[in-house]
Amino acid sequence: MSPAWQNLRADFPILDQQVNGQPLVYLDNAATAQKPQCVIDALTQFYRRDNANVHRGIHALSMRATFAYEAARERAARFFNAAEPGEIVFTSGTTDSINLVASAWGDANLRAGDVILLTEMEHHSNLVPWQLLARRTGAQLRYLPVVAGDSGLLDLAQLDRVLKPDVKLFAFTHVSNTLGVINPAADLCAAARKVGAVSVVDAAQSAGHLPLDVRALGCDFLAASAHKMCGPTGIGVLYGRRELLAAMPPYRGGGSMISNVEYFESQWAPAPQKFEAGTPNIADAIAFGRALDYLDDLGREAIARHDEQLATLAYARLQAEVPGIRLLGPARHRSGVVSFDLKGVHAHDVVTMADQEGVALRGGHHCNQPLMRKLGLSSTSRASFYFYNTEAEIDRLVATLQKIQRFFAG
Ligand code: ALA
Repeated sequence: MSPAWQNLRADFPILDQQVNGQPLVYLDNAATAQKPQCVIDALTQFYRRDNANVHRGIHALSMRATFAYEAARERAARFFNAAEPGEIVFTSGTTDSINLVASAWGDANLRAGDVILLTEMEHHSNLVPWQLLARRTGAQLRYLPVVAGDSGLLDLAQLDRVLKPDVKLFAFTHVSNTLGVINPAADLCAAARKVGAVSVVDAAQSAGHLPLDVRALGCDFLAASAHKMCGPTGIGVLYGRRELLAAMPPYRGGGSMISNVEYFESQWAPAPQKFEAGTPNIADAIAFGRALDYLDDLGREAIARHDEQLATLAYARLQAEVPGIRLLGPARHRSGVVSFDLKGVHAHDVVTMADQEGVALRGGHHCNQPLMRKLGLSSTSRASFYFYNTEAEIDRLVATLQKIQRFFAG
C-alpha cells in the first residue's frame, strides 16, 4: 500500500478508535462506507449556515439551499456522465430508486405475458420490487443463472436462451454484494437493447468503487446509494434516460412535483421534479455532492485498482492460511467483497468473535437468500474493503480467523 493511501486514513475520524481494546479494523464497507471529515463538515455547515427549504422560497437562505441542492444534482450528473442533470432523480437510496422504476415505469409498461429478467445473484432490493410488480401486472420473472461452483460468475452462455423478445426489462447487479463478482454491465445492457428490453443496473456496490459512466454502459436506468460512496445515509440517485423519465407517470404525489393542481386533476412538473414529491433530503444531497468530489479527487480507476489488490490478496491469503475455508467468488478480477464460510463455525459466531478482536465483518444471508440456497449455505461471513483499508488489516483478519478456528477446534 502506497503511503498516499495510508495518509487518507486521517480524513476518516471514525477509523482512529479502539474496539474491544484493539485498533478498529473496519471491513464492512459493502454495508456502508465511512465518511471523510469534508462530508461531515458539508453536512454540519449546511445546518449551521444555510438550512432552508428548497425551490419555493425567495429569501437568501432558501436560494442558497436551492443552489447547493441543484449543484449536487449537477455534480451527480457529472459523476455518472449523464447527458443532463434532469436525468438524476434524488431518492433515499438504491432500494427506493429500484422501487421507483418498478412502480412508475413498470406499472405503465408491463402486462400479463411480459417477462422481467433478473439474475440469480440479485440482492433482495433488486428482486422483491420486481416480484411485487409481477404480481400487480401478471408479468413473469425469469433468471439468468450463476454457474455451478463457487466462482460466482454469471452463466453468460445461457444469455440468449433467457433474453428473448418477450423480456421487457432486464435488471441486474453490477457488482454482487455477496460474491464480489463484477458483471459485464455494458455487454448486458447492449444485449437487453438488442431485444428491445429496458436495462436497470443496480450499482449499489459499484458506484463508489469502479469508474462508472452511464452513457458508456448504455443503461436505461441505474440506481446507487450515497452511503456506500462515503456520503450520508438516506440519499441516493436514480439515473434515468431523459426520454424514459419524461414518459413515466409520477411515483408519489405531493408538493413540488406538480406544475398545476385543480380540485379534480393536476399536471406534473417535468423530470426530475416529477419524482421528488415533498421536501427532499437537502442536507444529505449536498453532502453527497462533496463525497463525489472526494472520490473523483482520488480517482475511480485508482480506487478500483486498490480494492482489487486488497481483495485478491485477502482471497489468496485466506485460502493459503486458513485451512478448511470456503471462499466465494472469483480469485481475481473482483471487487473488494470477500465472502467465506469457515467450516464448522456459524457466520454469526465468526462475526461476534471477530468483533472481540476489533475486526468489523458482516455475517448472514446478505439479503441474498435465494443465492445462498443455491450455494447450499444459510449464511456467509464477509470482509469488504475500501481504499482506506491496508495490508496490515489483512494480517489482522487472517490472524483473527485462525484464532476463531483454534477456539472452535477445542
Ligand atoms: N446491502 C448491504 C449489504 O450487502 C446492506 O451489506
